[in-house]
Amino acid sequence: MLNDLIDSLTAFKHEAEEAVLQAGSEQELEGIRVAFLGKKGKVSDVLKKVGSLTNEERPRLGQSANETKRFLEEIFSKRGAHLALTLKEKKLQSERVDLTLPGRRIPTGSLHPVTTVCEEITKAFIPLGFTVEEGPDIETDFYNFEALNIPKDHPAREMQDTFYLSENFLLRTHTSPVQIRTMEKYSPPLRVLAPGTVYRCDSDVTHTPMFHQVEGFVVDKKVTFAQLKGVLTTFVETIFGAGVQLRFRPSFFPFTEPSAEVDIQCVICGGEGCRVCKSTGWLEILGAGMIDPEVFKAVGYDPDVYSGFAFGMGVERIAMLKYGIKDLRMFFENDVRFLEQF
Ligand code: PHE
Repeated sequence: MLNDLIDSLTAFKHEAEEAVLQAGSEQELEGIRVAFLGKKGKVSDVLKKVGSLTNEERPRLGQSANETKRFLEEIFSKRGAHLALTLKEKKLQSERVDLTLPGRRIPTGSLHPVTTVCEEITKAFIPLGFTVEEGPDIETDFYNFEALNIPKDHPAREMQDTFYLSENFLLRTHTSPVQIRTMEKYSPPLRVLAPGTVYRCDSDVTHTPMFHQVEGFVVDKKVTFAQLKGVLTTFVETIFGAGVQLRFRPSFFPFTEPSAEVDIQCVICGGEGCRVCKSTGWLEILGAGMIDPEVFKAVGYDPDVYSGFAFGMGVERIAMLKYGIKDLRMFFENDVRFLEQF
């Protein structure tokens, strides 16, 4: 009996060795281990028969069983380690990275043409000693109108032009309120540029409810209209190229006196006359003038001591002229095919 039992233990070793070699995965291997070494496994089954042995025979079976267990445990753990290694290698193979492949291209965006032109305009004034100031998009009646000498009955105040938020608050219709805010904050001399978003209740081919302006102004003792012309000439030559002619036409703004509208020689036809300049050879690009004494009074500057000039221009308009863009709405449709060209 004892010999039979020991024989079967020996047979398990060979059986298990073969089975283990067939095991292709760690789960399979675990199944085989349980079949041999588990509580209800083959080795346990043999040990259950210990009852039929004599007292001298029992320890010999125990010895043989322990030796078999050690042997089996050893081959399971070896095979287990081997399987783990091959699995890892397979995984590494399948996840191999080809470092010679070209990288994925990440599409890069660019600045919006209005932003670019706004920056170009600002940069043109920096060498002339201008600094940049900003004001809020939501303004009060005082800053947008009252302090700029725009009387209560001025047409610019009518509902069709101004987005009112309440009786006193509105979306600024121009960047000129930054003149007032800056003058309240600092004393002259001032050389300031104020780019920003403005809003008007207007929408067609040449108007959008939101657009951009750049305001500029200078306040000091003895500022002259000639200096205004000099500054604007330098600016126009920086943006549109040397030799582009300027023309001042008398105009009216409540916050400047005298006031002018400034034209440049048509950049499309060079002054010959075309559809863009409506055969005049000139294009209007900005409004300007000498700061009205009433504005100085509103901020507590003495108009007998100080004088100044101011100008304001539409950024989209400058961008359209500079790039020959025919439809203003292109700036706001955000069509990548359009934007990509800048
Ligand atoms: N604020 C004026 C406008 O929006 C432009 C302007 C600014 C005119 C400064 C004169 C001086 O039309």
